[in-house]
Amino acid sequence: MTIFPNEAGRLPRILLLGGTSEIGLAILAALGAPAGSEVILAGRDEQRLAAAGKTLPYQVRTHHYDAVDTASHQAFAGEVFGAGGLDLVISAAGILVPQPELERDVRLAATMIETNFTGHVTTLLALAGLMRARGRGTIVVLSSVAAVRPRKANPVYGATKAALDAFARGFADSLHGSGVRVLLVRPGFVTGRMTEGMEPAPLATTPEAVGAAVASALRRGRAAAVWVPAPLAGVAVALRMVPRPFWRRVSR
Ligand SMILES: NC(=O)c1ccc[n+]([C@@H]2O[C@H](COP(=O)([O-])OP(=O)(O)OC[C@H]3O[C@@H](n4cnc5c(N)ncnc54)[C@H](OP(=O)(O)O)[C@@H]3O)[C@@H](O)[C@H]2O)c1
Repeated sequence: MTIFPNEAGRLPRILLLGGTSEIGLAILAALGAPAGSEVILAGRDEQRLAAAGKTLPYQVRTHHYDAVDTASHQAFAGEVFGAGGLDLVISAAGILVPQPELERDVRLAATMIETNFTGHVTTLLALAGLMRARGRGTIVVLSSVAAVRPRKANPVYGATKAALDAFARGFADSLHGSGVRVLLVRPGFVTGRMTEGMEPAPLATTPEAVGAAVASALRRGRAAAVWVPAPLAGVAVALRMVPRPFWRRVSR
């Protein structure tokens, strides 16, 4: 199945929230959208957004977007949606602040919660309202295996991902039948900028592998969630069953 059904020759319009995200950019590269497709990279740093855009085989433009500036999200959604609408939105903004830093300055915990959860909710509510009115569109949400079970090493990050995962599932159900689809992506440890300096977890993967898995799930058309790598789906079931005292000892 094609990701973008040809609508009278109209080229797809795609938005990446967190426009410099390694995973988000790898998804865009793997999509294989037509060459003239319009991609909007939305983020905070214009220079790095422009540099990221040069790596993509599409018509790229950039737009200012700050995930923690929730008051701006309704207007932002209207601006990027524009008259042409959006066929695909990839919600990839995120930060991973080490727990000791959060404990030294608790305001960083609030920033991580706003970036990883609140900002996704406000932005996606505004965008999905416009997509629903148009009767079509796809939203990709970057959750994580961290959503499965909070770990003592990073309970705040885990909580933001669990909250985002729960929101995306309920939101997908609320949009069912509207023509707007939500694909929830749950990668494991992804080697890259966010995890730099950390010891890779078992089943570690790459942004390119996540990109390929998301593009494939979008092509298949039906999946509500995709785990990367796929065996993580089974691992997640096992992780939920580990007794808590044992989990406390073994989880890093
Ligand atoms: N890497 C992993 O192991 C892993 C595993 C599972 C899930 N995920 C999730 O996948 C998503 C993408 O991660 P990644 O590996 O691609 O990390 P990344 O390369 O560090 O990308 C994170 C993106 O979030 C943006 N961002 C951070 N704060 C923002 C803010 N206030 N407003 C707007 N954008 C903001 C960053 O923009 P700047 O360039 O301005 O900093 C960057 O574009 C995240 O949600 C992450 O939690 C990652």
